[in-house]
Amino acid sequence: MKNTSKSPSARGGFGSKIGFVLAAAGSAVGLGNIWRFPYLAAKYGGGIFLLIYIIFAITFGFTLMLTEIAIGRRTGKSVIGAYKAVDKRFSFLGILAAVIPALILPYYCVIGGWVLKYMTVFVTGGGEEASKATFASASDPEAKLSFFAHFIGLLEQPTIFFIIFVLLTSVAVFFGVEKGIEKVSKLLMPVLLILIIGIAVYTLTLDGAGDGLKYYLLPDFNGFTASKFFKTIAAACGQLFYSMSIAMGIMVTYGSYMRKEDSLESSVRQIEVFDTLVAILAGLIIVPAVFVFSGGNKSAINAGPGLMFDTLPKVFADMPAGQFIGAAFFILVTLAALTSSISLMETVVAVVIEKFKLSRTVSCVIVIGITLVLGMLSVLGYSVCSDFTIFKKQMLDFFDYITNNLMMPVLALLTCILIGYVVKTKYVEEEVMLGEKRFRSKLLYSVMIKFICPACMIMILLTATKI
Ligand code: PFF
Repeated sequence: MKNTSKSPSARGGFGSKIGFVLAAAGSAVGLGNIWRFPYLAAKYGGGIFLLIYIIFAITFGFTLMLTEIAIGRRTGKSVIGAYKAVDKRFSFLGILAAVIPALILPYYCVIGGWVLKYMTVFVTGGGEEASKATFASASDPEAKLSFFAHFIGLLEQPTIFFIIFVLLTSVAVFFGVEKGIEKVSKLLMPVLLILIIGIAVYTLTLDGAGDGLKYYLLPDFNGFTASKFFKTIAAACGQLFYSMSIAMGIMVTYGSYMRKEDSLESSVRQIEVFDTLVAILAGLIIVPAVFVFSGGNKSAINAGPGLMFDTLPKVFADMPAGQFIGAAFFILVTLAALTSSISLMETVVAVVIEKFKLSRTVSCVIVIGITLVLGMLSVLGYSVCSDFTIFKKQMLDFFDYITNNLMMPVLALLTCILIGYVVKTKYVEEEVMLGEKRFRSKLLYSVMIKFICPACMIMILLTATKI
């Protein structure tokens, strides 16, 4: 088994370790951390979820992320070429790893467009008015729609914000890895960290935030049955996947641009800490703030996916300096979503460049075109074509479901089998040793990749398919 990779510089690559870590953390830190993590933590018993999540991050998340980055760096190729280079019989995994980001990117940019709209509303001073406004529903004159429900049901505005978000994403990708993605990540990630820490400190000083904090951090064992425990584990595991950008080809792609002399193990640990820290901080902002302004009403915190788009803007509207905090918050979410969509687009663009031997510019144009077409299906699904569903799901939810619940666990499971049993763990160990004197988590890695990770993947698949 030869270590075949070309030096990353032959096809462009990150110029520094910090550039790589920030870009990968930028990919990991996204809507998953800020929109999804807090509502899941609130739903699954606060502290218990947090604890299980952290344990998963340092074991399961570490193993899968290290594996993907090592495959990328060792082969020096985009996902299609990379899996083929590991073992020809597993070439189909490369195709799966290219299709997943191509399906996620469009709907992720649609949601990115929603966030961009909120940012614009808050930055231009209309946050309070918008979050309290109600609109008549076209289908049921009695029903009142929130700003969010009304907005996503429109056609022009979500389309325009979606297109702007795709174009913003493509700027960094057009400029390439070092001059585009690395530069943007080095600029945006520190800004993101400062914003999130600043907002968290502010919301925690609000009167009554302590009770919300207790609700968020202290484990609540009340009514915690075995079945709830199992569900919490499955939810934490699924969230980790989503949050760390695992099993969507991204880490293989970014790994292929990583310098050989940089330490893989410590890079993965740093990305993991960054990602988990931002998720916990987002929860520190959202859960206590909603708790305070809903008067400790638990159903407000359990608003699920609507927590960030519906509940939180109302909280900002009532909060002292809320207009300003709301603007800062939605700038933060936009930046987080942008660095993630950049990584999704880069993964697909890298495949097009390599597979069809096209220039970066032409490849970008092709990927933008596909993204706009597929993304419009998601926009239309919430708008004029809302009666059209697949398996009772709107288009956006359908894309989200098949990628996150089915395709990604399958890709991760087969990657574990490929590394754990086919080419064996030495494939990754040798790559780790290039930048290191010793592989500190070697035993943990080996046990995880062979036994625990595959078991977790099977569990996610079973829960997703409700078998
Ligand atoms: N890890 C990123 C996030 O937490 O938002 C990016 C991402 C996750 C994109 C999951 C897409 C996805 F399905």
